[in-house]
Amino acid sequence: MIRNIQDDIIRIKKEKDICIIAHSYQSREICEVADYVGDSFQLSVSAMNAPQRNILMCGVRFMAETAKILAPEKTVYIAHSEAGCPMAEQMNKEYILKMKEFYKGYTVVAYINTTAELKTVADVCVTSSSAVKIVNAIDNKNILFVPDSNLGDYVARQCPDKNIQLLQGGCPVHAAITRKDAENAKKAHPNALLLVHPECRREVLELADFVGSTSGIMDFARKSDHGEFIIGTENSIAEHLQYDEPHKMFYTLSMKFICPNMKITTLVDVYNAVMYDKGFLIDMDKETLTKARKCIDEMIRLGK
Ligand code: 13P
Ligand code: SF4
Repeated sequence: MIRNIQDDIIRIKKEKDICIIAHSYQSREICEVADYVGDSFQLSVSAMNAPQRNILMCGVRFMAETAKILAPEKTVYIAHSEAGCPMAEQMNKEYILKMKEFYKGYTVVAYINTTAELKTVADVCVTSSSAVKIVNAIDNKNILFVPDSNLGDYVARQCPDKNIQLLQGGCPVHAAITRKDAENAKKAHPNALLLVHPECRREVLELADFVGSTSGIMDFARKSDHGEFIIGTENSIAEHLQYDEPHKMFYTLSMKFICPNMKITTLVDVYNAVMYDKGFLIDMDKETLTKARKCIDEMIRLGK
């Protein structure tokens, strides 16, 4: 039954010239019908380079907005209208403008997990996989890093020459994981390596054998000679890795590690979006597109 729906999606997306892009926190059955699966950075690049005229984003709204900013000539849809990201929507443009007054002369570095509107007042974007490299490449010692204070704290420790100011924000899913959760997982799986996303608290990162973005964690686990891993990010990643590497063992760190915003999109939403044109159009005015693009272009330039 699932296979029938998947086959229909694959057939119709080709007929309607739709490129399906899925963040790797999406369910297995959605990833299987996607043209591209990846972390936030890889999704942006895929959207820009996709030959199709239409893009259906299976992920959260800021990802669809980023796709639209990078491919304004394409029609971009999100599969579920309510798939927002609480971190991306934590800080608005007005708040950042106030902070810029306070932190005069600072370069504002915005995590890509922010709205298009916020990106219009930031100097440069980063993803979790490029943050350290980009912050190091910025020609200013003084950095205001928003909104994720855990990622910002991690970056600050990797870039000791920079003066990095943080604001109080972050991902509620990653930030909910405690040291105790990580200790319990290690106790349950004493032979496993602990791989953790930098959106987690410092107390969790301190116990990790590897800290990296979603794709960083997946690459590490695939290439490692080790046989067992505790996955310290959204639980889909443990599942995807287990499919890809059946001879290794992957454990979730905690049952709390589920992003409801990512999981709100189902295969049926994807089916309805392609079959009945029920995706939700992402649109924004020209000024927002142009200003937000500048911030993403700067990320691409500094990340080279
Ligand atoms: P990355 O995909 O950049 O690792 O980000 C993790 C995340 O929380 C996405 O919402
Ligand atoms: Fe947002 Fe966190 Fe969910 Fe990613 S995992 S979409 S940052 S709430």
